[in-house]
Formats: sequence, structure tokens, C-alpha cells
Amino acid sequence: VASRISLAAIIADAAAHAPALHRAHLSEAHCTLVETLGFDRRYVRGEGQYLWDDQGRRVLDCLSGFGALAIGRAHPVVVDALRQCLDLAPPAWVRMELNPLAGAAARALVHAAKAGDMRVFFTNSGTEAVEAALKFARRHTGRPGFLAWDRAFHGLTLGALSINGNPDLCEGFGPALADARCVAFGDLDAVRRELARGDVAAMVVEPIQGKTLQQLEPARMRDLAELCRRHGTLLVADEVQTGGGRTGTFLALEADGVQPDIVTLSKCISGGFVPVGAALVSPTVWRSTYSGMGEAFVHSSTLHEGPLAMTAVLATLHVIEQDGLVERSRRLGAMLHESLRRECGAIECCVGVRGRGLMAGVAIDPARVPSASRVPVVGPLLSPMIGQCVAQDLLDRHGVLAQVTGSRSPVVKFLPPMTLDEADVQVIATATAAALRRLQRGAFFPATAQALARWALGARG
Ligand SMILES: Cc1ncc(COP(=O)(O)O)c(C=O)c1O
Repeated sequence: VASRISLAAIIADAAAHAPALHRAHLSEAHCTLVETLGFDRRYVRGEGQYLWDDQGRRVLDCLSGFGALAIGRAHPVVVDALRQCLDLAPPAWVRMELNPLAGAAARALVHAAKAGDMRVFFTNSGTEAVEAALKFARRHTGRPGFLAWDRAFHGLTLGALSINGNPDLCEGFGPALADARCVAFGDLDAVRRELARGDVAAMVVEPIQGKTLQQLEPARMRDLAELCRRHGTLLVADEVQTGGGRTGTFLALEADGVQPDIVTLSKCISGGFVPVGAALVSPTVWRSTYSGMGEAFVHSSTLHEGPLAMTAVLATLHVIEQDGLVERSRRLGAMLHESLRRECGAIECCVGVRGRGLMAGVAIDPARVPSASRVPVVGPLLSPMIGQCVAQDLLDRHGVLAQVTGSRSPVVKFLPPMTLDEADVQVIATATAAALRRLQRGAFFPATAQALARWALGARG
């Protein structure tokens, strides 16, 4: 009989050797990146919106696992539900049965999303939800094509990558799906021209772009939906990042008054513990794929509708509703945007506060950072590091973990758990202003140049 494993002992041992383990068995490149940028702290505890490292330093986590920790870390209701699931050990993945937990989770998700009679296909990630959406759209329309915005991000599997508007992520992985194309963000005339070709199964959009935090005005989003309807093209709302309440409504498109044909979700509904995703699909589109019992498994996945995943969905939706997290995101999100504007608006390199609710960012124009543009040769080299400098400073000096998207047009992005409080909001705004002022004074570049030199001399990844 196998003996018990001690997870605490495994974690303690592996934490002591994490760089070596990663270099030997995982990604050297990731290791080098984290070390070069100075993000190689050892975190020993996470609770709510905070992390603690082995030096006892508390960090406000505004990266939140790229959005997966939307209800905070180790939420007691989710922990309790998952423990109940393990204790009950309901028979999982029988497959030739009607999984009650999946039924309950689907009902709860449709209710939370106010999605009427939409059907749910559960997945294990965001990109799989997008793949499902692409397949459902092709099958329903009988058309091969897809349309997306440039700078869009929909995941990294091949179908999702084909509608990715960031060429650096696609390089060397082609050919992409032959009939997938991107048009300039917000260019409805270009969309009209593409749809008029009559070969586009679906237009896939993020209500707020994760890479740029750009969004269409609600009226233009409604125009886009109408254009799609007129041309028989399905509208797919990729709410993998925006969904679950963080923008102030459960689905971001709810606020725009648009009803998409398919909605993809993931991150938030995981409760921060179990990978899960979902495609919500209108009944007519659904029936084109699942047209009879012979087709019941025509699109499926062995490990979807897992008991822990379904439990995580149920517990997370329960927390979002009972703790009023959608309303909280709306209120604190408005406060965050206002505070960022107030604190950062007058700093020269700041060219705007973007996003909605608790998906917020500060856009920086590298050309307005004098020390970067003036230094000959090194200036242009450092320029793509500018956003990263701000993120580094936010962590080192202010204990705020944030993300930078885009290197040439950086946006310092905050995706905090929806459970953060008013004091946290103020910390984010004042810390960002302080970091931007230091950037404006050129205070970062010696440290950044050192980090780059270290990397250039010692890089292996
Ligand atoms: C809008 C959007 N779609 C899809 C994905 C892909 O999700 P995953 O990383 O779970 O595959 C992401 C991930 O960041 C996303 O932001």
C-alpha cells in the first residue's frame, strides 16, 4: 500500500531548489525572465488579495494569476466546498451518465450570466472554450472564416492563435487557419467589407482587450453586433478575462446592451483552484453541433465537467452573488479609475487611464520619458523595458504586483481580486503615481541597464 505523501515537505524542499528544478525540467526562458526582472521572490502564503514572501513582505496581488484569482486566494467557501467534494468523492467521469454536478453548475452559470436559454459546454481552459466557439460557429454557419481585431488575445492553441492580433505570438507557428483574419481595432468599415465576402462564420471580440485595455463605445459595439447579424456572422464575446463581474457587470457586454451568440468564460469561475472554462451557446447554434444522439460526443473532452471543477464553479458563483462582488467591482472599479486619473493624470509620460471596473491600466508613452529618448544608442534599447521598469518599481518599493502589456505602447495593468478594499485602491493609485514620477526622472534606468547587462552576460534561457 502506498504511503502518504507530505505535501508540505515536498513544497519546502522544492521551494529551496526552485530555480534548479525549473532550469532542469520546465522553462529556462521563464526562469531567466523572472530572475532578470527581479520578480523571483519566494511566496509562502496567499490569502484574499495578498501574498506574503519568505521575508515576511506583504504584496497586493494585482496580477491575480492573470485574472484567475478574481475572488481572492484561498476563499474559505471555495476551500470548504472542494473539501466536501473530496470527502464525498461523487463518481466522476462515468461519461455514460448524466453528471448532476455539471447540470447544477451549468444552471448556475447561465443564471449568473443572465444568459436565458443558452447551453453550456465546459472546458478546462480559456483557449479550449475559444476553440469550441470556433467549431460551433463553423458548424452552424457552414462558413470557414473568422474575424478578430488586431492586438486581440484569445489564447494560444492553434485555432485561437489564428485570430490572435499579436504577430510576435504567431511567428513560427504557422500556417494559421487559412480563413482567419484581423482588422484594425474599431474599424467598422473594414469589418463591413470583410463580412460582405460572405465567408465569415464568427467575429470574435474581447469586450475590453486584455493586451491594450481598449474597448468600443457601447453604441459602436451594438453597431458591430448589428453588422454581424445582418451578414449572418455569429458574434462571439470572449469574456475569458472580462467575465465574472470584474468590469462591474457579470458579463462586460451586458453593460453594452449586446447579446452575443456565444460567450467564452474561464479564469474567474475557477475560484482560483481548479482549471475550468465554458462556452455559453445559443440554443440554435448548439443544435447545429449536437443535432442528435449520434452527435452527442462530436465535440467533447475526456476531463471536462470534472467534479472539482464543477464544485469550484458552483462555490465561486455563490461567493460572487452572496458577497455582492459584481456591485463591489463596479464601485471600487470606479474609485480606482478616478484615483488613477487624479494621481497620475498630470504626469507627462501617462497618456491615459484605460479599462473598466477592476480591469484598469495606465498607458505610458515611452517618447515622453526624457531619459529614455535622449540617451543615444541605449535609449531606444531601454524603451521597450519602460513598462517593465514601472512594474518592477511597484513591486520593490510599494509591494504591488502588476503586469505590463505591450512593450512599444506599454500599459501597466491592474487586475486585482474583486475582494480588494478602498485602502488597496488608494495604494495602487499612489504607488503608480510615485513609480511614474520616478520613471519621468529617469531613476530606473541604471537598475534596468544592470539587469539587462546581467542577463546579457549570464543568460542561458
Ligand atoms: C480574452 C482571453 N481569451 C482567451 C484566453 C486564453 O485563456 P487560457 O490562458 O486559459 O487558455 C485569455 C487568457 O489570458 C484571454 O485573456
